Amino acid sequence: MKEHDFERRYTALRKIVDRRIATLARRGKPADLNDGCHYVLSAGGKRIRAVLVLLSCEAVGGNIRQALDAGVAVETMHNFTLVHDDIMDHASSRRGRPAVHVRWNDNTALLVGDSLMGLAYISLMRTARKVQAPLVELLTEGLIEVCEGQALDLEFEGRNDVTLREYFTMIEKKTGRLIAVATEMGGVIGGGTSRQTCALHQFGRYLGRAFQLQDDVLDVVADQGRFGKPIGGDIIAGKKTFLLLKAAERATGNDRLLTKRLVRHHGAVPPSERGRVIAEVTALYRRLGVIAEAERQIRRNTTLAVGALGALPRNRATGMLRWLSEALVHRNS
Ligand code: IPE
Ligand code: IPE
Ligand code: MG
Ligand code: MG
Ligand code: MG
Repeated sequence: MKEHDFERRYTALRKIVDRRIATLARRGKPADLNDGCHYVLSAGGKRIRAVLVLLSCEAVGGNIRQALDAGVAVETMHNFTLVHDDIMDHASSRRGRPAVHVRWNDNTALLVGDSLMGLAYISLMRTARKVQAPLVELLTEGLIEVCEGQALDLEFEGRNDVTLREYFTMIEKKTGRLIAVATEMGGVIGGGTSRQTCALHQFGRYLGRAFQLQDDVLDVVADQGRFGKPIGGDIIAGKKTFLLLKAAERATGNDRLLTKRLVRHHGAVPPSERGRVIAEVTALYRRLGVIAEAERQIRRNTTLAVGALGALPRNRATGMLRWLSEALVHRNS
């Protein structure tokens, strides 16, 4: 397949997911809760996790139709985590629109998130009965690990001594795990051997690592219009990103004082100071070459992800998975 064909197929799969996910949101009362769920599920997004479920299923010989409800389940679970994440990160926008807690309020956002979690299980239970038990186990274990990752992310905001090793543990939980759940689930639904589902899990883990590193980079370098989230949000929130931890490791002289201040500031930048702080930190990151270093790490983890696919048959779906991994390296949203 050519580049153009890969892109076309991805768009087609994304549309299939969009159509099915929209049917999950209920209409009616209470209006805020139901409108909030609909608002989130109809806002698009890349639908990466759902598409990964579909392609992983096909990669081991299954049909994407068998995997659609599970794909929608993982995607809905992901959407739930975003709604709560924006409360925790004090983030004002998502996918180019006000975050749910801004458009409504924190309590509505909590309930919308909770409902989305329930809707994810409703969709999952529409998958063939014989694979339901392992799928429920995968999704539930995955969800608990995402919570652990999110808790570490918050704990790190208040700590000055976070190591890069701890950072990688945190991102593997908060982001890598749900992506690995997606790829492994696809393998289970498609009837893959245990060697194949294991390879798909590994693929998802490496891809997830690359994905979060890229998200950290985009927080600094993205175009706000395309990214749909506030630029510099991690800097203002005092997040221990790869960029900050690597900068702290590399900085000397005045830069060392600046990174120390950043590591300690714990997120209290007044609104009037934000633009200046973000510009100053971005310049620091460029000076220290940590954005380029993150890009090397993204490449490395993408190569490892593609390597894990070697245990799978060579077919149209594995070709798509390879293409998607490479395409994500160049994403801008
Ligand atoms: C955002 O995920 C949260 C992270 C794990 C970095 P995505 O970048 O997949 O968000 P959408 O679904 O495409 O909006
Ligand atoms: C990933 O981290 C969030 C989840 C696992 C939900 P971020 O907090 O960096 O995600 P964004 O940048 O807000 O999408
Ligand atoms: Mg966030
Ligand atoms: Mg977060
Ligand atoms: Mg982010």
